Amino acid sequence: MAEEIFVSPKKKGKIAVFVSGRGSNFMAIHDAILANKINADIAVVFSNKEEAPGLKIAQQRNLETLYLNPKLYADRDEYDKEIIKELKKREVDLVCLAGYMRILTPLFCKEFKNRMMNIHPALLPSFPGLHVQKKAIEWGVKYSGATVHFVTAEVDMGPIIIQAVVPILQDDTEDSLADRILKEEHKIYPEAVRLFFEGNLEVRGRRVFIKSSECGDTQPTTRSK
Ligand code: GAR
Repeated sequence: MAEEIFVSPKKKGKIAVFVSGRGSNFMAIHDAILANKINADIAVVFSNKEEAPGLKIAQQRNLETLYLNPKLYADRDEYDKEIIKELKKREVDLVCLAGYMRILTPLFCKEFKNRMMNIHPALLPSFPGLHVQKKAIEWGVKYSGATVHFVTAEVDMGPIIIQAVVPILQDDTEDSLADRILKEEHKIYPEAVRLFFEGNLEVRGRRVFIKSSECGDTQPTTRSK
């Protein structure tokens, strides 16, 4: 069977950003849009947490926000179906998970295949899951970093778009490492979104390539500091 190839659309896009917490990655993406670095608008900032600081910041920035209470839905599929309905209404092209701490159903992941990104504070596939800065220090690895990847039903395992490497210092604490990784997150997440709407991301199986506009060729998208 021929390999399935996906090329991201070159267009002015509509983004939905999903947050559950403080929302600094959401702000980095929004700031890049305001600076005309990303050819897209944020159609909605969505949260599963009514009190998420990221949601409040979105309101202050005059963006549309949406909160759906998970407790009001029979199960995860029903909840995710409702989100899909809301995103379709707004003709969302790309979902950006930015500290969204609720696992999405296979149904949702299928609906947004190749159209949903996540940022993770480690060099995947090492250290998936939670508290990964602490796990990286305790494991004794010398480098960690940040990963932007497309989301698939297998948590933290989708095709990798960009990674940034951050050295682990001998006196690092969980917080000091998290701070340095976060600075990189704020660079590579907007960059991945920019490339997406420039029509410059190509997914072939597990690999993501940046299409070079100069020569029409493709290059792997691994980047270090
Ligand atoms: C970020 O460090 C992000 O990488 C991480 O949560 C933080 C959210 O911060 N995401 C995950 O761990 C997902 N597995 P933010 O709300 O300030 O963007």
